Amino acid sequence: TLLAIFAKDIPGTNQVGVFLDDQPLLAEDTVRFVGDVIGIAVAETAEAAIRIASLVEIEYDEYRPHLTIQDSASATGRLIHSSNIACSHQVLKGDWEAGFKQADEIIEGDFSTHHQEHFYLETQGCIAIPEADGHVTVTGSLQCPFYVQKAVARVLDISLNKVRVIQAPTGGAFGGKEDVPSELSARAALAARIINRPVKMVYQRKDDVQLTSKRHPFEMHYKIGVSQTGKLLAADITLQSNSGAYATLSSVVSYRSTMQAMGPYVVPDIRVRSTAYYTNLPPTGAFRGFGSPQAAFGHERIMDLAAERLGMDPIELRLKNVLHPGDLTITGQKLNVSVGTEETLIKAREASKWVKARKSHNKSPRYLSGIGAASCIYGNCLGAAGWSLDGSAARVQIHRDGSISVAYGLTEMGQGALTVVAQMAAEVFGVDPGRITVVATDTANVPDSGPSVASRNVVMSGNALRDAAEKLMPHLKAAAAELLECNEGDISIQDDSVTNTAGGEQAGFTELAEQLFLTNRPMDVMGWWHVPPLDYDSQKGLGEAYFTYSYATHIAQVSVDRLTGRIKVEKVWAAHDVGKVINPAGLEGQVEGGVVQSAGWALTEQLQLEGGRVITDNFSTYLMPTIRDVPEVVTIPVEAQEPLGPWGAKGVGEPATIPTAAAIANAVSNAIGVPVNELPITPEKVLDLLSTVEVP
Ligand code: MOS
Repeated sequence: TLLAIFAKDIPGTNQVGVFLDDQPLLAEDTVRFVGDVIGIAVAETAEAAIRIASLVEIEYDEYRPHLTIQDSASATGRLIHSSNIACSHQVLKGDWEAGFKQADEIIEGDFSTHHQEHFYLETQGCIAIPEADGHVTVTGSLQCPFYVQKAVARVLDISLNKVRVIQAPTGGAFGGKEDVPSELSARAALAARIINRPVKMVYQRKDDVQLTSKRHPFEMHYKIGVSQTGKLLAADITLQSNSGAYATLSSVVSYRSTMQAMGPYVVPDIRVRSTAYYTNLPPTGAFRGFGSPQAAFGHERIMDLAAERLGMDPIELRLKNVLHPGDLTITGQKLNVSVGTEETLIKAREASKWVKARKSHNKSPRYLSGIGAASCIYGNCLGAAGWSLDGSAARVQIHRDGSISVAYGLTEMGQGALTVVAQMAAEVFGVDPGRITVVATDTANVPDSGPSVASRNVVMSGNALRDAAEKLMPHLKAAAAELLECNEGDISIQDDSVTNTAGGEQAGFTELAEQLFLTNRPMDVMGWWHVPPLDYDSQKGLGEAYFTYSYATHIAQVSVDRLTGRIKVEKVWAAHDVGKVINPAGLEGQVEGGVVQSAGWALTEQLQLEGGRVITDNFSTYLMPTIRDVPEVVTIPVEAQEPLGPWGAKGVGEPATIPTAAAIANAVSNAIGVPVNELPITPEKVLDLLSTVEVP
């Protein structure tokens, strides 16, 4: 069987854009980047399919490509879509011009950050199986089963209940498997439908790197006004990002970077304008932090430049401006509780012996040492722009032998979700975690729970589990009261046993489960939680951008080799306000991974393109940190409890990666005495910067 499938073979809509309808599943008359897919070759073996594809001849009319933000912004004539602007956002609060007039010092800076490729160890892949009655089942390496379900249904023109999506164990994602698996799954499902046989589609690494989304490069201009004592008075910030050929998650990246553009600081008068430009490069989209690491690079570099201008200690300057309970964010949102940002600064400063390190500044003839700090704010969950998607389910099923299955709507992608979901389920039912099995996420088991993104897993799943327990507990207690012949009000279920607190009689949870079954009581329940309504004005970018925020401060200690320009990150102190630590080892794992991923972005990872084609498409040319590059990481928990979070918890998956690159850039600037305002900080750049100053 040999087969090639093209756009004309699509029964439904040839469209796979996640928020904007700008992305055809199969290109029809225009290709916008080297990775645009024109057709699908189907064969018994991968080798045969590749051979068919190589036989297809395509003629292109060529147009001048737009590869940079500047190119795209100034383009005349043929545009990439109906406009070259993928999306834009703004915050307009107060009178920033008047604020600048009050300022004693005005500090400006241009900062730029580059692409980052996810390089999950497992490339994109899925299997689509045509079932009876026009149903299709897709099993894949993915983050967002409900996105895939919607995409497949749309392309095949069938209803959602005919598409079942199951998450296979997923070997890394980091945002790279948020929307991209919808493309693969829709293509595999289309082919499966046409040949009426199961179809497997797995990207080779070089195709994965060429075709799939990456972290947005940003060009940022920061202007801030400060008083002589270091109070931030006004800011005017422009963020421009390179969105590549399709918008994908650009709107989320642009929104989040705008809302968080000045970090965890109070700024009375501020304007932020953000624009994402289409170019003829691979699309950029979701990558751990959604634009937050880029914005953090901007606000944390400008804070260090301001500290230098004022002759102040950088952490002192941050402490003078940091958000406290009762303060307003840059969008004018009043924060009443769970604002642990000051504590992250103080604890990281103490742990790193900052004051001494800043002074001692060891400069051997060859190695320059430096230390730098960076803080961040991170809006938990999807925020005002994605509010309608921000509900999640957890289904709990008690079996008659006392074992418990939990099905939830979000996914495990290496971050430890299975462990914390089991842990939280055990906690709400008062049973041993050994009783709990968390089953693979399956759209047939749970309602649409939104995407597994935005560090929302613990908050959403924990609260859904609390809701499940609240609904099921009355039945458990009624059955327990029958079993122990006592009042329901006297029943306590904890530590894996059931107790009549009045008489002292006990039974095991297994007996209780059997009693539930024998008395025909409900043994399963769907828990649900939705983020509360947010009051937000999208025109001015004012109001409640997110329901709560996580905070972090990272301090990086580096040494710079003057001879080679090589930077070694020696140690990172990472203080995180997570509201409540649910799993201490899991927290450390997230923070260590986040720090290393961000250090890679800051120093060695460099996606290189030639005429729109990625040339660093494997592990030997795209240099990720190895074990020898990993610094010592000290995780410092801060627990400013969030009343709406489960047990007070907030998310940490993305905050773990947000401030590190900025902290490293601040540390390198401190070491070499020259501002580092551009990522990546390669040895070549360090040598260039060093050549501009006299280092004694
Ligand atoms: Mo992630 S950038 O929240 O998929």
